[in-house]
This record gives sequence, structure tokens and C-alpha cells, in this order.
Amino acid sequence: MTLRVGIIGLGCMGNCHMGAYEKVKGARVVAVCDIDEKKRQGDIGVFGKRDLSGLRIYDKAKEILADPAIDVIDVCLPTHLHAELSCAALAVGKHVICEKPMARTSDECKKMVQAAKRSGKQLFLAHCIRFWPHYAKAREIVLSGEYGAVRSARFFRVGSKPTWSWNNWLHTAKCSGLAALDLHIHDVDFVQYLFGKPKAVRSTGMSVSPGGYDHIVTTYDYGKDKLVMAEGAWEYAPGFPFGMTFSIMMERASLDLDKTLTLTLYPEKGKSRAVRVPKGDGYTHELQHFVNCLAKGQGSDIVTPESALQSVQLVEAEIESAKSGKPVAVRY
Ligand SMILES: NC(=O)c1ccc[n+]([C@@H]2O[C@H](COP(=O)([O-])OP(=O)(O)OC[C@H]3O[C@@H](n4cnc5c(N)ncnc54)[C@H](O)[C@@H]3O)[C@@H](O)[C@H]2O)c1
Repeated sequence: MTLRVGIIGLGCMGNCHMGAYEKVKGARVVAVCDIDEKKRQGDIGVFGKRDLSGLRIYDKAKEILADPAIDVIDVCLPTHLHAELSCAALAVGKHVICEKPMARTSDECKKMVQAAKRSGKQLFLAHCIRFWPHYAKAREIVLSGEYGAVRSARFFRVGSKPTWSWNNWLHTAKCSGLAALDLHIHDVDFVQYLFGKPKAVRSTGMSVSPGGYDHIVTTYDYGKDKLVMAEGAWEYAPGFPFGMTFSIMMERASLDLDKTLTLTLYPEKGKSRAVRVPKGDGYTHELQHFVNCLAKGQGSDIVTPESALQSVQLVEAEIESAKSGKPVAVRY
């Protein structure tokens, strides 16, 4: 059976998901919804044009939710709208795939967890880095234990100021949580996927927009034998190349992902070598995984509503730490 998908929000990520579904087996997009008329005509601004012919097109969320010929609602809305729309979709019996971060606050995330439990439908959170081939391969190498324990790990994600967002919501702290919640959460989520829940975080931050952090640097408390840190920022000048990189030092080898997305293993003995990773990007892999889960009638064992909630709780602790200048124990 082919799952019928309706996408709400046809901006950067709605457009990205539409492209990814073309490569996903077992699902097809049948409807889209956006409040912006240009988007409904397939004009996605800086992301180009999309042919929406053959799709049902809605301008109101309640109308796409009422469409009986949709199995899955894919929420690609600004973050402050995730909880309300996801809960509404679950309540009318749709499965939900929702973009990261799960919601604007951990309280909203908890409502989503409850709504999914009540509905009996699946709620998937699109933490694409868990599925990004280079990150997934690095995790596989670390967890294999072949090179010993991790001594330190550093994750880095930076780019220029995002310019595309609807009504500039990305630069409005109450909508996006700024770079700390929007961008840096990719690494926060991967850190807990790789190492489990840290006891505490210690952060420093820099703000350009009011009400949050546009640049944040965090160390995670995993005890005295492991140094783990992550840095995220998005206020670099226009044209500054986006980069997601990491370096992981194990007892008998180091791993490095550079800005060209080359993953290299440097063993203690012998020559360094490029690590081969599966083809494709995290978006297509994550959507294929969610569709496979739905075909089997089960939730994901890679990203769960609870793990996505924990990532938001971690970012909240980081923001508290950056504000106070003190380490903060994470309340899960
Ligand atoms: N996984 C990733 O790598 C990644 C990358 C970028 C963004 N995101 C996430 O995706 C989500 C969307 O971000 P974006 O960059 O696509 O934003 P965007 O501003 O490009 O797109 C949002 C779209 O939602 C529409 N919209 C707003 N309110 C609406 C409503 N009530 N009903 C219907 N449509 C409405 C807007 O018109 C716009 O087209 C955010 O949560 C963001 O954090 C994830």
C-alpha cells in the first residue's frame, strides 16, 4: 500500500521533503497546504519552483486535516506552530512526521507525546542528522568499540544568516528559539544519540537578535574521562559557506568529518583512509525509515518522541546556562 502524504508548510523544508518523497518507496505526496498564495502556486522563492499539478492544494490547515484521503501529515511549519498542528493532526487520526525541533518549548513537546499516545497514531520527528550517512557511519564506528573509548568529541555547525523564512520567523526568538534551538539542536540531538543523556551542560552564547542566542558553545558533562562539545552559529556574513563538521578522538583512532563532507579515519597505526558511506542524504533516509516503520505498523527505534523531547530539554538547559554563566543539570 502506498501511503498518502499531505505536507503543511511549503517553504524551505516542505520543498525539501517534496523532493525527497520522489525517491522514497511506499509513499507519495497527494496534497499540500500553505497560507502563502505564491507557495500554493509552486513559487518557493529562493528554493525555486515546484510543479504542484495533480496535487490537492489547501490554504487552511483545518482543510488538509479534514481530507480523508491522507494517511500522513508532514508538518514543515515554523517551529512555534509544530505542537498545535501535530496534535490536531493526531486527533483526527493522521500519522504525523514533524520537522525538528519537535516544538518551541519542552512543555509543548510533552503535549505532543501525550497526543500521540492518546491517538494510537505514530509521531515521527525529523531529526535528519541521525540518518545522515556520515554521522550514522561515525556512530557505527564508535559503537563498534574497535578503536576503544571516545576521549573527546567536537561538533561544529555554522552558516550565514538565514534569509528566506516566512515573516522572518527564524529571527524571532519566540517563534524559532534562534540558532540555539533551530540549528544547534541538530548536534545536541546527535550528541545524546551517540553518548546518551549528559548530566549537565555548560554554555556560553552570543546574541544578535533579541531573546535568545545566535551563537552557542556547549560542553556536555559525561564525567571526567570524556570531553564532548558542540558549537552552532548562523550570523556569519552573506555567502559564508555552511559547514557541519565533527572530530572524534578515540583511544586508538580519530575520526574527522570536514566541510566537504569527507569522513576520514586516522588510526593510531597505519595510514589514514576515507570512510565510505551510503549514498543519499539524511532527509531521504529519514523519510524512507518513517515510511518503512508505518508499513510495519510500528514506531521508530532511531528517533522517538521522547528522544526529540530530550533534545529540546537539553537546549533549554544550555540557554539557562548561557544566561546564568553556570553549569546546569538537565531536567529530563
Ligand atoms: N531538518 C533540517 O535540516 C531543517 C532545515 C531547515 C528548517 N527546518 C525546520 O523546518 C521547519 C520549517 O522551516 P522552513 O525553513 O521550511 O521555514 P519557511 O519559512 O521556509 O517555511 C514555512 C512555511 O510555512 C508556511 N506557513 C506559515 N504558517 C502557516 C499556517 N498556519 N498554515 C499553513 N502554512 C503556513 C509559510 O507560508 C511558509 O511557506 C522549522 O521547524 C525548521 O526548524 C529543518
